[in-house]
Amino acid sequence: MTSSSALVRALQGDRPASAPIWFMRQAGRSLPEYRELRVGTRMLDACLTPDLAAEITLQPVRRHGVDAGIFFSDIVVPLRLAGVEVEIEPGRGPVFAAPVRTADDVARVTSIDPEEVAAAAAPIREAVRLTTAELGETPLIGFAGAPFTLAAYLVEGGPSKEHLRARAMMHADPDSWHRLAGWLSRVSRAFLGAQIEAGVAAVQLFDSWAGSLSPSAFRAFVAPHSRAAVADLPVPVIHFGVGTGPFLADMRLDGVADAVGVDWRLPLDEAARMVGPDTTLQGNIDPALLGAPWPVLEAHVREVLQRGRAARAHVVNLGHGVPPETDPGVLTRIVELVHAEGSGAE
Ligand code: CP3
Repeated sequence: MTSSSALVRALQGDRPASAPIWFMRQAGRSLPEYRELRVGTRMLDACLTPDLAAEITLQPVRRHGVDAGIFFSDIVVPLRLAGVEVEIEPGRGPVFAAPVRTADDVARVTSIDPEEVAAAAAPIREAVRLTTAELGETPLIGFAGAPFTLAAYLVEGGPSKEHLRARAMMHADPDSWHRLAGWLSRVSRAFLGAQIEAGVAAVQLFDSWAGSLSPSAFRAFVAPHSRAAVADLPVPVIHFGVGTGPFLADMRLDGVADAVGVDWRLPLDEAARMVGPDTTLQGNIDPALLGAPWPVLEAHVREVLQRGRAARAHVVNLGHGVPPETDPGVLTRIVELVHAEGSGAE
């Protein structure tokens, strides 16, 4: 039902009449209806309650008329399903009871069979089924965290600025690093598998913090594991990271990624030259402009669309997630502008 949708067509390299648009973190605190539903429920419990996860996923699709839903969940959900003790602290992010720092820590956590994730993923499958039943022809995007971004939290034990502990492990103990990243890759792949089985039309691999890596570290220690997480999937793959300009071509994962996400730092026409003619681009409205006067934001969105024409195809999005303080009316207005622009209206 979703194979002729604008999103799937753009990911496959077609240019539908108007560029498809969705927003990372479109479900979440920018929406009053989300804040109301979440009262009294912890983040990860909400993710594992199928009717709640489905309803939260649907809220922004109804409100904004975006061209895709993004499944409401979190990158650490498969770790919780594997039995790893993790919570999401409001205003802070994922926090682990036991950081994974030494070779022994790595041996302990990687002894968990990633099949445990698939076995425990019934609430995920159920939430995806409920959501796709409501969405009809609008595609649902599934997702998982890339091994490095997950390791950035797991090795530290919580959020960090420069992800120094995870990056240090690569060089100090490469065997442990590859063991950990290989395991995280299989855990995320199992999480994607559950979503695909239940009907998502495309998936996005979030390597949000990859921009903290040097190009050589990304190539040697990260890209092979990210590639393994998404190779040979039966649906299109988007690969996203922030600050990945210095190695954007490598974000293609040897062509395994159908689309590469670009943050606000790199104009899309430059990005198109870097990734070449076989890759769709996704992005790159600057979240910092969401609070600007409408004419300023409108000019910026038009410029993003214009530069995006240099790519083989373009999926419009922000350069990173919707900030919680965003006026949701502004997001709806951007969707209307992008849809009108595509059909040739002024
Ligand atoms: O709408 C969507 O994009 C779908 C849902 C989604 C969430 N997390 C929901 C969420 C997705 C795709 C994610 C992925 C995720 N989780 C990433 C990669 C994307 C990115 O933003 O770069 C990362 C790094 C995480 C880890 C994480 N989870 C962080 C840093 C936080 C924020 C903590 C905070 O309170 O500021 C979370 C919690 C989280 N995940 C929220 C949502 C809606 C906020 C929870 C709340 O409402 O309190």
